[in-house]
Amino acid sequence: MKENIGFIGAGNMCQALVEGWLSENLVTPGEVFVSNRTPGKIQRLTEQFKINACATNEEVVDKADVVIVAVKPQDLEAAIEPIASSFNEDQIVISLAAGIQLHKLKRLLPKNKNLVRVMANTPAKVKRGAFAYCTAASNIRVDRWMERMFKPLGYTIKLDEGDAFEAFTVASSAGIGFIFELMVYWQEWIEEHGIDAKTAQQITVNTFLGASQLATQSPTQTLEELQAKVTSKKGITHAGLESMRELEVERLLRYSFEKSALRDRELSEN
Ligand SMILES: NC(=O)c1ccc[n+]([C@@H]2O[C@H](COP(=O)([O-])OP(=O)(O)OC[C@H]3O[C@@H](n4cnc5c(N)ncnc54)[C@H](OP(=O)(O)O)[C@@H]3O)[C@@H](O)[C@H]2O)c1
Repeated sequence: MKENIGFIGAGNMCQALVEGWLSENLVTPGEVFVSNRTPGKIQRLTEQFKINACATNEEVVDKADVVIVAVKPQDLEAAIEPIASSFNEDQIVISLAAGIQLHKLKRLLPKNKNLVRVMANTPAKVKRGAFAYCTAASNIRVDRWMERMFKPLGYTIKLDEGDAFEAFTVASSAGIGFIFELMVYWQEWIEEHGIDAKTAQQITVNTFLGASQLATQSPTQTLEELQAKVTSKKGITHAGLESMRELEVERLLRYSFEKSALRDRELSEN
């Protein structure tokens, strides 16, 4: 079935999703319509992927069966409000904006029956994304769409809006940034021991990848069990872990998670 997908906003998330869907043959370039505030990104995207450029957001809404609003939270209202009457009530409208709750989307598009809030992350680009979504009421059409389009790009889960959605936002979307921060520390420490930057990056990346893949392929074991398998008593891993616990690394990380959650709440309120 031919189904047009429109993006308002052609930044990082739009590019990650377009790249993922095209490479999985879930859409054809002719079925993707994109608009952006300024023209530079559109030109690059259309040259790279041969998708359709739209001169206005309204044109995207006219052409699309599913509209994905991929602008920053602070730009969402300005992007939607002037063209609200162009949306039809049966379109699936997906907002990727962090912190923007469903009731706010509903206020902008009161007649729409298929509003979806999605929290995504950029590993979607390599089909290792993590996506959470919520809808105002149970909606099988949206559930099927999410299953068909998002699951091939990564782990996809439906969550209630509120505490659970916020936790996902912090741990999985902001979390990618946190993981890179840790990886930078890893790499820097390796470099200080005479290994060049490129090699140190490879060692770091493969260590994180190895741990993740081992955990992915061991679904019946908890993370603690997997850790115990690499930690012999009085061994070198044990010594390092003891120090991590003494220094309360967990407390530091929790503090950062809470700060991030607070920002999510601030975005919701403003
Ligand atoms: N990137 C992530 O890892 C990530 C993770 C989770 C959630 N998100 C959410 O995903 C959304 C998109 O993030 P992003 O990283 O893709 O942002 P981004 O790279 O900054 O892209 C946003 C794009 O929206 C365009 N835009 C702004 N106002 C517009 C308007 N009125 N009409 C049309 N286009 C407009 C911007 O155009 P200009 O080129 O003119 O600036 C920009 O290209 C955000 O709401 C963010 O909260 C992102």
